[in-house]
Amino acid sequence: MSGITLLSGNPGLEAVFVDLYGRSLPVRRIWSDQWRDPIEVAMDACAADPELVVVGADAGLDLTELVVPEIDRLFPSATILCLVANLDVATSLALLRLGARDVILEAGTRREFQAAVEPILHLARSRHRRRGQSTSEIRRRVITIISPKGGSGKTTLAVNLAVGLARRAPKQVVLLDLDVQFGDCAAALGLRPEYSLVEAVEAANHERSALKVFLSGHPSGLAVLAPPEDLVAADDIVQDQMKRTLAAFAEEFPFVIVDTASGVDRFALAAMEQSTDLLVVSTTDVPSVRAVRRQLDVLDEVGYVSQRRTFVLNRANAKVGLSVAEIEAAVGLEAAFQIPSTRLIPVSTNEGSPVIERNGGGSTANRFDRIAEFFAPSPDPDDRRSRRGRGKGRR
Ligand SMILES: Nc1ncnc2c1ncn2[C@@H]1O[C@H](COP(=O)(O)OP(=O)(O)O)[C@@H](O)[C@H]1O
Ligand SMILES: [Mg+2]
Repeated sequence: MSGITLLSGNPGLEAVFVDLYGRSLPVRRIWSDQWRDPIEVAMDACAADPELVVVGADAGLDLTELVVPEIDRLFPSATILCLVANLDVATSLALLRLGARDVILEAGTRREFQAAVEPILHLARSRHRRRGQSTSEIRRRVITIISPKGGSGKTTLAVNLAVGLARRAPKQVVLLDLDVQFGDCAAALGLRPEYSLVEAVEAANHERSALKVFLSGHPSGLAVLAPPEDLVAADDIVQDQMKRTLAAFAEEFPFVIVDTASGVDRFALAAMEQSTDLLVVSTTDVPSVRAVRRQLDVLDEVGYVSQRRTFVLNRANAKVGLSVAEIEAAVGLEAAFQIPSTRLIPVSTNEGSPVIERNGGGSTANRFDRIAEFFAPSPDPDDRRSRRGRGKGRR
């Protein structure tokens, strides 16, 4: 048995879940007069091995705070979602600390609600599945995107890759925008972040479970950390704090994508040190290609050699004289992926909706999807086949 278990006295909530998911999953609701000892009944309900346990807002905070840690302790394969009537940081934080995977508003339109539940349910199902087959455990990755020059496509790559990964692994991907001066990942994703790196660094140093509260959620299931508006505050962040913050995110999320400023600043250094992968981006013009080679030489010299390096050639079809083979020879890496120059990309950037998720994103969307596939190969062969069927472009 599996499915969704609702701990709530609200038949309306049950109707919503039955309507949304009842065809594919059993939905059970437990509550009220059935409640002998509330905790005991909740535990009985969880013994059916649900993928997702939803605690309704009507359960009230006191009871929720009792029941969540018990479920978390006794049923580790269940994902706990808490619904609340008002979303505030202190409450969310308390519930996340107790073992809830996410806290969302119960109010709102059906569409908003579904958009918030969907990625968590997806995560719940894959976590549940994975417990039986530990071999398909996701391989953790910290991927830092670097390039010596501005405008080479780092942010474009960062947001598209992050969304591509989040679509495969919702709620398991965080995009950290460490371009503290000009970071624009949030804008490229159509988000308006409330908090920034400054609060996250603070949390990483004092209260790790608070970290997630400072992220902005994208509908794909991606979490985003924005740079601070206040540059002076960013200046106060020291290298050690940055490293601790990155380590905390890497513990919390299987995939950490880091967008950086051009060149290599101290934030990028901290990120690279903890990275499994460096994604090196260049356009095809001679100065950019040379600069990439120099940057890689410097990394060799300072000893950043253990990270896997993957080279992405952006605006690969631009006719500026250098062939792909010449570029590869100059950089010393094979161009593992090539992104064409297309108007679609700046249009997407300006509209805050990444190419990878646009209708009509076509072969460009496919190229980004391949990069996501490279870092998170789908464990299910059928799934992989159907994804591959969608695109024919060279990777
Ligand atoms: N392949 C491409 N085709 C067309 N425009 C692109 C392409 N890649 C990036 N751009 C545009 O170039 C600008 C700079 O890209 P961006 O990703 O912000 O670079 P970086 O982060 O390296 O400074 C953006 O306006 C973006 O939309
Ligand atoms: Mg950028």
